[in-house]
Amino acid sequence: MKIMANKFNKRVRLILFNVSSILALTIIFSICSARKKGFTVKKITSYHTFNPDWNVGTLTTLEKKLTDEILDQPFSYLASGNHCYAFESIDGKYVIKFFKQKHLRTKIWENYLPLPNKLNKHRLRALKSRTKLRNQTYNSYKLAYTHLSEETGLIFLHLNKTKYLNKSLKIIDQNKKNHFLDIDNYEFLIQKKATLGFEKLASLIDNYQLETAFQLIESLYETIITRSQKGLKDADMQIYKNFGFLEDRAMEIDLDKLREDPKAQSRCKEDLHYIAKQVQDWMDNTYPNHSKQLQSLTQATLESL
Ligand SMILES: Nc1ncnc2c1ncn2[C@@H]1O[C@H](COP(=O)(O)OP(=O)(O)O)[C@@H](O)[C@H]1O
Ligand SMILES: [Mg+2]
Repeated sequence: MKIMANKFNKRVRLILFNVSSILALTIIFSICSARKKGFTVKKITSYHTFNPDWNVGTLTTLEKKLTDEILDQPFSYLASGNHCYAFESIDGKYVIKFFKQKHLRTKIWENYLPLPNKLNKHRLRALKSRTKLRNQTYNSYKLAYTHLSEETGLIFLHLNKTKYLNKSLKIIDQNKKNHFLDIDNYEFLIQKKATLGFEKLASLIDNYQLETAFQLIESLYETIITRSQKGLKDADMQIYKNFGFLEDRAMEIDLDKLREDPKAQSRCKEDLHYIAKQVQDWMDNTYPNHSKQLQSLTQATLESL
C-alpha cells in the first residue's frame, strides 16, 4: 500500500515538474520574443542588398546642399502609419519617413531552418509576397519622386544603401530617447511637412478665412486631376490622414499606394467623386452652413472635366 502511494506521489511530482517547466519555458519565450511597442531602430533596419531599380539618379550639387542642411538638424517623432514611422525636423519644415521593414523583410533567420516540404512551401510563399510588397511599395515611392515631386512635396528618396551622405542623424523617439543613425544605411524619404487635411481647413474656417479654405479644396481637387492625367492611381485616398496642405496648395502625403494605371485618366471623375464625398461629409457634419457652397464647387469641377 505504502509503495503504491509513493509511486503515485512520484508520478504527480513528475507531472507537476513537467507542467511547471513548460510554463516557465513558455513565459521566458514570450518575454524574449515580445515585440516592443512603437518605434525601435530595429524595426526600420533592413538587410536588402543594392538594387539598381531603386536608384533615382545621383544628387545634383543643389540637392546635396539642401539634403545636407536638412539632415544636419535633429528630427523628433511625429506619427506612425501602417507602413512607416514619420519624424519631423526641429525647424518644422520637413518630415523624414523610415519604412517599417516587418512586411518587407526577405532575409530572416527562418530562411536557414531546414523545414519539411509543406512548411517550406509556406515559407516560400511568405517570401514571395514580401518581395512583391517591397517592389510595389518602392516602385510607388519612385513614381512619386519621378512624376509627382510638386504634388507630394517629396524632396529626397533613398531606397538603396549608400556611402555618400556621411551623416549621423539624430532622431528623438516617442519616449524622448535619442538615437543616432548612420543615415547611409537606412531606407527613407524626405518630404515637406504639411498640415493634415481637415485640421487645416477647420483652422481656416474657424479664423474666418473661408475663401482660403475653399481655394485649398480647389487645390485638392486639382491635385487629384493632375495625378490622374499623369496616368497614376492612388489606392489610399483618405483625406484625414493621407492628404495635407502646405501654403496655398494641397499635398498627397502618403506615397506608398501609387501605381501606373492606363485607366487612371478615364477614372479621374470617379476619384474626384470619392475625394469630394469625404470633404462634403466632413463639411455637412462640421460646418453645415457652407455645405451648399461646397456642393457648387464640386459640381463645377466635375462639369469642367
Ligand atoms: N509630409 C507630412 N506632413 C505632415 N504629416 C505627415 C507627413 N508625412 C506623414 N505625416 C504623418 O505621418 C502619418 C503616416 O505617414 P504616411 O505617409 O501616411 O505613412 P503610412 O503609409 O505609414 O500611412 C500620416 O498619417 C501623418 O499623420
Ligand atoms: Mg498613411
